Amino acid sequence: MRLVHGVGQLRQVLAGEGHVALVPTMGNLHAGHIALVERARTAGQPVVASIFVNPLQFGPGEDFQRYPRTLAEDCAQLEAAGCDLVFAPDATEVYPEAQTFQVQPPLAGELCGAYRPGHFAGVCTVVLKLFEMVRPRYAVFGKKDYQQLFLLKAMARQFNIDIELLECETRRAEDGLALSSRNGYLSCADRAEAPRLYAELNRIATALRSGASNFSEIEAASTDRLTRHGWQVDYLSVRDRHTLLPPVSAETTLVVLAAARLGATRLIDNIEI
Ligand code: PAF
Repeated sequence: MRLVHGVGQLRQVLAGEGHVALVPTMGNLHAGHIALVERARTAGQPVVASIFVNPLQFGPGEDFQRYPRTLAEDCAQLEAAGCDLVFAPDATEVYPEAQTFQVQPPLAGELCGAYRPGHFAGVCTVVLKLFEMVRPRYAVFGKKDYQQLFLLKAMARQFNIDIELLECETRRAEDGLALSSRNGYLSCADRAEAPRLYAELNRIATALRSGASNFSEIEAASTDRLTRHGWQVDYLSVRDRHTLLPPVSAETTLVVLAAARLGATRLIDNIEI
């Protein structure tokens, strides 16, 4: 497995390759990321993983500075997973000058967008750049970041990007907690509490699958239970899977999405109905 830091070197290495599959990451890899690499390998092409903590997608007061940077450990995991090339650019390679053009995705005021202004513009902009740098045939994203995946698919369609986006199911700990680099921020007590978020999503899923359609009551009851256990809920919302907007009828294909904080740690999760 090769490790390159510069875009020039990346292009040289990729010039000899045919199609490749890209796994964009911010590093600090866990089994969820390795599942993305495994998904990428099923495309039958060489796999390129990018590792870049993208400053553009962090807001003021968010965890950009303390986001764990663990390149050596990440490379060891990627090599063991069968990754062929790691692209870990410096910020000056990705942002050679102040980024005055940015992709402005829709749903900016919805769900995570309402609590992290500018976040999805930062995500879409860096992913578009990575697509241009790597020029993959496939790119793999996890369903834990459901709104991110939704917006990236819309970006690919609307900008006629000729890359197939492959999606990967969320990997969970045995107690149900979705794997995330940010789980490492949890105190012992908060880690023990954290699975409650997915348990609430499952409780809602059971109600919806049995025909409940009183969405706002269901959302309020779950929010209340989480709050009583010390969570600060940003949102917990039943949405239409095809639009990510509130469902107009109970017949719609649904997804339930949530973001909530335990102490200083913000967790997100979702469940498809
Ligand atoms: O999901 C992530 O890790 C990041 O948002 C991504 C897609 C690598 C862009 O920085």
